[in-house]
Amino acid sequence: MSKKNYLFANWKMYLKLSESKDLAEKLAKRFKKMPVETEMAVFPSAFSFQAVKKELKGSDILLGAQNAYWLDKGGYTGEVSVFDYREEDATYCLVGHSERRHQFGETDEDVAKKMEAVLESGLTPVLCVGETLRQKDSGQTKEIVAAQLESALSDLKIEKNQKIIIAYEPVWAIGTGKTCDVSVAQETAAFIKEVCENISGNGDISVLYGGSVKGDNALSFADLPDIDGLLVGGSSAKMETWEEIFKAVCTI
Ligand code: PGA
Repeated sequence: MSKKNYLFANWKMYLKLSESKDLAEKLAKRFKKMPVETEMAVFPSAFSFQAVKKELKGSDILLGAQNAYWLDKGGYTGEVSVFDYREEDATYCLVGHSERRHQFGETDEDVAKKMEAVLESGLTPVLCVGETLRQKDSGQTKEIVAAQLESALSDLKIEKNQKIIIAYEPVWAIGTGKTCDVSVAQETAAFIKEVCENISGNGDISVLYGGSVKGDNALSFADLPDIDGLLVGGSSAKMETWEEIFKAVCTI
């Protein structure tokens, strides 16, 4: 059986509303039918989420949230509830992206609360983990990744019908044009699966690689035995570069 191939497009804050609609319209035409083993999801900004959803209707492309708050309602100025994303048919929610952790001060505690709420809402969490350059240079990658997994998952009850996805995204590789060594990506992905299984006893864990993925390096990551797909930022926000990635890893 061929392994699953997730292609996740994190549009971050790269696109205005009109640009998001435009790209979604093109994607819906181009990727109306996906190969069975491939699952494409787009993560638009909160502001353009509903407009993108409208454009993607009728295609196989799924939707995800870039970030969400763990409570349903209340006095939380500027936040968007994960339960609202559920109502708007999101399938996935990114949790603990390094830009949230490092630029917006999201703590391990916040990440753990988000993981719980995302599962409760019925969405599948995509938990992002990864080391900084300094941590990599001091040989701490596994230690850091294990600690992030431990704090996000140890109090989580994952039911048999629930799934979680982990995105291994070295912080120093995000948006920098630098990528992780493929052998390190494979070793870390295998390690992540082992740690997750030990913590949660759940075997249904997929691992994605993220960090400066482009058309010319996508296959070298997607082909690794323990990598089940890609989480792409910059190169996912333009039709041409996204198409290059798709063509590199898919056969239609
Ligand atoms: P990048 O971002 O592809 O632009 O490096 C990846 C991510 O942040 O998910």
